[in-house]
Amino acid sequence: MKITVVGAGAVGATCADNIIRRELAEELVLVDIKEGFAEGKALDMTQTASLLGFNTRVTGVTNDYSKTAGSSVAVITSGIPRKPGMTREELIGTNARIVEEVSKNILKYSPDVIIVVISNPMDTMTYLTLKATGLPKNRVIGMGGILDSARFKCYLQQALNCSQHDLQATVIGGHGDTTMIPLTRLASLNGTPVSNLLSAEQLKQISADTMVGGATLTKLLGTSAWYAPGAAGAALVESIVRNQKKVFPCCVYLDGEYNQKDICMGVPVVIGSNGWEKILDFKLNTEEQEAFNKSAEAVRNMNSVLDTLVQA
Ligand code: LAC
Repeated sequence: MKITVVGAGAVGATCADNIIRRELAEELVLVDIKEGFAEGKALDMTQTASLLGFNTRVTGVTNDYSKTAGSSVAVITSGIPRKPGMTREELIGTNARIVEEVSKNILKYSPDVIIVVISNPMDTMTYLTLKATGLPKNRVIGMGGILDSARFKCYLQQALNCSQHDLQATVIGGHGDTTMIPLTRLASLNGTPVSNLLSAEQLKQISADTMVGGATLTKLLGTSAWYAPGAAGAALVESIVRNQKKVFPCCVYLDGEYNQKDICMGVPVVIGSNGWEKILDFKLNTEEQEAFNKSAEAVRNMNSVLDTLVQA
């Protein structure tokens, strides 16, 4: 089994590091456009093998996709990250061209691949990858909801002073500061609704903090985050390669589900060896469905920018 990670920056390298530590494949190929960068990161990671006790071989290459041939899973992290004050959406012009080229290169050498998209604006980049590659819809998965849900759990844990392992909490919708929807009504501490344990005011604050979770980190770090995004990408890869059938909120192509069509957005899905295998119907209430529709409108507007870029 071979796994490719494209983009050896902070998110890609952290994702790769998580993958090799868990030995999710015999070989991990790290690709970057910057001469020698992926080779350097791969060598550095390889030198942790005897210390951490893993056997996965790590290969770094500068833009040589022939080395990625036969990959079962490829993670795309390429593109520029956010700077403080920027939205994910502002990255579209630069990142769309990069992601389109990268996804076509991956497909050329790995026709059976499952692609995980992390590049921003993630919902639009997932849609673009699906259209550019023509892959079956189940084999293109956007990573956003898992990360947003992990952030949701982090803020819930701080308010409840509990173990994050005991929390079930899901964020659906778009992966944008104003488009994501933390489902506070369905969040629970081992089955007890968190709404029984926290005030409406507290839940509103947690929800707001979750939505700007990435922006808060960008402000603190001067660039976008990498530990949680990298770990979230690796968790997705693990559920695919180990066929774990975990339920994660992921950005997938909707064809009528959640009342939306021809769009990629975050909904709960089962992740296994076929990619995303099933969309779960969480039965949103009217308010949640309205928020989802509004989120879809924003994602759709962003997707329409792709047409102008293609023409440009
Ligand atoms: C974030 C980026 C990876 O939310 O989208 O940190």
